[in-house]
This record gives sequence, structure tokens and C-alpha cells, in this order.
Amino acid sequence: MSEHDTNSETMGEPTRRDFLYLTTGMAGVVGAVSVAWPFIDQMRPDASTLALASIEVDVAALEPGMSLTVKWRGKPVFIRNRTDREVEEAKAVALGDLKDPVARNANIADDAKATDVDRSAGEGKENWLVMLGVCTHLGCVPLGQAGDFGGWFCPCHGSHYDTAGRIRKGPAPENLHIPTYGFVSDTVIKVG
Ligand code: FES
Repeated sequence: MSEHDTNSETMGEPTRRDFLYLTTGMAGVVGAVSVAWPFIDQMRPDASTLALASIEVDVAALEPGMSLTVKWRGKPVFIRNRTDREVEEAKAVALGDLKDPVARNANIADDAKATDVDRSAGEGKENWLVMLGVCTHLGCVPLGQAGDFGGWFCPCHGSHYDTAGRIRKGPAPENLHIPTYGFVSDTVIKVG
């Protein structure tokens, strides 16, 4: 009689609680997640995946030194408003000292170098860093503002990333990947 009643489920915004749950789950089952995640992403481009093809994030409240984690296409994305000190530290690193010299930034050339500016949102917005929060070793979610280089630290097998999200020590082979994104206004970032 009332068939419409059953269709009240909505996608909703990814919530902080959802993400915390996801993070906890990943840390607990590293092996399973690292294999299952890409598989699911490729094999199930269903309505929910398509609906989240891009998201807009208001970053107006993010003061320097603050980070936000959002979920995009089922993966965490780290958005950080870096402090001047973090930017300076990253700029001071010689490219020759980097384990992965490639920017891994989907917004610029594939072979762009991993300079700080090419890891950031670019000239004039170098304080902003937007990256997939997925360790390039086996897919754990790294912890922010941790590790030997003050950037991110993946506790699963000990990978240390610097304040530009570049791998500096540990088994991860690549810098944290940077998704397609851009500022659609002064305070809103569109990811995807
Ligand atoms: S998943 Fe192995 S160090 Fe991050």
C-alpha cells in the first residue's frame, strides 16, 4: 500500500563517526583492506560511487595548523592548512634526498618533480595540502603530524612522510597521492 515509505534511505554526508569507524577498521585488518579496497572500487561503480564522484568541502574554519579528513570515493582525503614552518621545512628539503622524486599530483604533469609547491595547491596557496590518506605501502591510513619528519606516520609498518606528504623513510614506495581538486572559491575545495 505504501511502497514509498520504504525508500527513505539517503546517502547522507560522510560523517566524522563514519570515518573514525573506517580508520579503526583499516588499522585492524591491514592485509584484507589493502587487497579488497581497490578491487571493490573497480568492480562496483554503483550509484553510491558515482554520487561521490566529486565533493565540495568548505575549509573556511581551517586555521593554519588544522586538518580535516573527508571521505571521497570511499577513501579518506586529508586537507591540511599548513603552518609557515611546515611549508618552510618542506621547501628546505633537497629533491635528491627524496625517496620518491615525483609529485604524484593528479593536477599537474605525471612527471612533475616533488617540489613543495607542486605538492601543494600551488603558488599563493602553498599552505594548502590535499592528499589521499592512503599509505602507498599497503593502504593503511597514516596519522597526521607524526613521525620523524613532522608530517604523517603510518604505524602499520613504519612509513614516515614529511610536511608535504612525501615519503622519507620506511617501506612505502611513493609520496601520498594527490587527487584531482581545485578551489572553487576562496574557501571551498572541490575534490574530484
Ligand atoms: S601500510 Fe605499510 S607502512 Fe603504511
